[in-house]
Amino acid sequence: MELYICKSCGHVAFNGKPEQCPVCAAYIFERNDAVFKEAAEKSGEASIKHIPAVTVNTSCGFIPENDCIDILVRIGATLHPMEEKHFIRFIDCYSDSVYVGRSYLSPGLNPAACFHLKTKGKSVTLVEQCTIHGYWMTEEMIPEQ
Ligand SMILES: [Fe+2]
Repeated sequence: MELYICKSCGHVAFNGKPEQCPVCAAYIFERNDAVFKEAAEKSGEASIKHIPAVTVNTSCGFIPENDCIDILVRIGATLHPMEEKHFIRFIDCYSDSVYVGRSYLSPGLNPAACFHLKTKGKSVTLVEQCTIHGYWMTEEMIPEQ
């Protein structure tokens, strides 16, 4: 898989090199197909605290008047710390590998986010960046409604 990282905001693009970053509008990308492998190899035992743990709720109670799938994500199965120098900087959400949104985090928040998806994709991908341990991702199939 060809992976391109935005040099400005750290966004990871899955579908080839984007013209412009969909998060921060920058134009400079660096190709690194091994960005997830590198993190896992550097700190394999850390995976339980870094791999996004996802709950998919196909009927949103918060926005019942519109099609909405809740993507609830926490980092990770064992909660990642949120300390001054070691925290989860952001969680990016993709529907069928296309970027749909970002949640910026800080040490004042829990390492978690909720995305209210309008799209009816077959899969959802979550990418997180840890300030110390780099990039981690997970992909979930969305159940048929
Ligand atoms: Fe970490």
